Amino acid sequence: MSPDTPVFLAACRREPVPYTPIWIMRQAGRYLPEYRAVRERVSFETLTRTPELAAQVTLQPLRRFPLDAAILFSDIMTPLQGMGIDLTFEPGPVVREPIRTAAAIEALRPLVPERDVPFVLDSIRLIRAAAPRHVPLIGFAGAPFTLFCYLVGGRPSKEFESARAFLYAEPEAAGRLLDQLADAMGAYLAAQAAAGAQALMLFESWGGLLAPAQFEPFALRAARRTLAVLRGCGVPLIYYLNQGSALLGQLAPIEADVIGLDWRSPLGTARRVLGPDKAVQGNLDPAALFAPPAALAAAAGQVLLEAGGAPGHIFNLGHGIWPHTDPDAVARLVDVVHERSQRPGAGG
Ligand code: CP3
Repeated sequence: MSPDTPVFLAACRREPVPYTPIWIMRQAGRYLPEYRAVRERVSFETLTRTPELAAQVTLQPLRRFPLDAAILFSDIMTPLQGMGIDLTFEPGPVVREPIRTAAAIEALRPLVPERDVPFVLDSIRLIRAAAPRHVPLIGFAGAPFTLFCYLVGGRPSKEFESARAFLYAEPEAAGRLLDQLADAMGAYLAAQAAAGAQALMLFESWGGLLAPAQFEPFALRAARRTLAVLRGCGVPLIYYLNQGSALLGQLAPIEADVIGLDWRSPLGTARRVLGPDKAVQGNLDPAALFAPPAALAAAAGQVLLEAGGAPGHIFNLGHGIWPHTDPDAVARLVDVVHERSQRPGAGG
């Protein structure tokens, strides 16, 4: 690893690193009093559409903790608004007219990022200008099937029954919608990289709801369609799959450098199944941040142990941090991960 390469990017590329990098899903969010203070003045939507505010909030966790990456403050549903979808955040996304017909699918506009979501690209430019050089910026999008769940289901749900039923009832229409979303997210992420994002992440939050026989032809095929466009961007690609332990065997061909995992997939097993060509990201249970300090340290140590000594692990939670988490617990976690993973002489 060259001394100029940020530790997070080196770990994504499975290069040896002096310590295990850490960032936290939803690291800019309601557990931070300074985030809540901004949200008292402006709506979530205004926050995502105002580059100065989005940049300010993105940088908030970096001021408190020595995190190894920043993630753009936005939402997976934001680009869909640019494609003509009417939705609100309450706080989860609610689509006014869920998509259920072929006509509604035809009516979706292709996404032209510079025209439809210029504020996202401006946010990225502002963050890059202000963030420390050793802290790379992650751009992101929802994976096509996860967006499909909200578009067809209309609102947050545990089972996304209507979205899953649609796959069986109208497989061809479902496939067309997934293709449109895949192409839109490919264009969206490529534009983020062009604006300065140094890694790109696809959030497949609901892919784990699918039976293995449906995951491959719908969710995985669409995610691969997005990722294939991005290979030429020259930045690491991360595919986060929530509740995917039964599906990991299907991920070998995916065009991602890093697979993000939730806490139900032990990292050691995941690494064996995924093979040596993938780095892994994760996967502490967000609930562990409620443990007393010694037990939190032990839980973090267990994740490091599971990840093993081979290069290619980025520490994270297994899913987003909970809004009632104590920021001091996050400070302890970041320190303990950096301390316990020291590898004197490796890279750096
Ligand atoms: O810090 C970061 O991680 C960057 C910002 C970010 C947000 N949403 C901000 C947000 C990211 C990466 C997301 C991704 C996202 N959004 C996902 C994928 C990750 C996951 O959690 O599975 C999903 C499924 C969504 C959809 C979404 N947006 C939900 C379900 C909710 C409500 C849940 C909640 O946390 O309250 C949102 C709203 C949202 N997105 C908030 C934030 C900070 C809360 C809004 C508020 O301040 O009121």
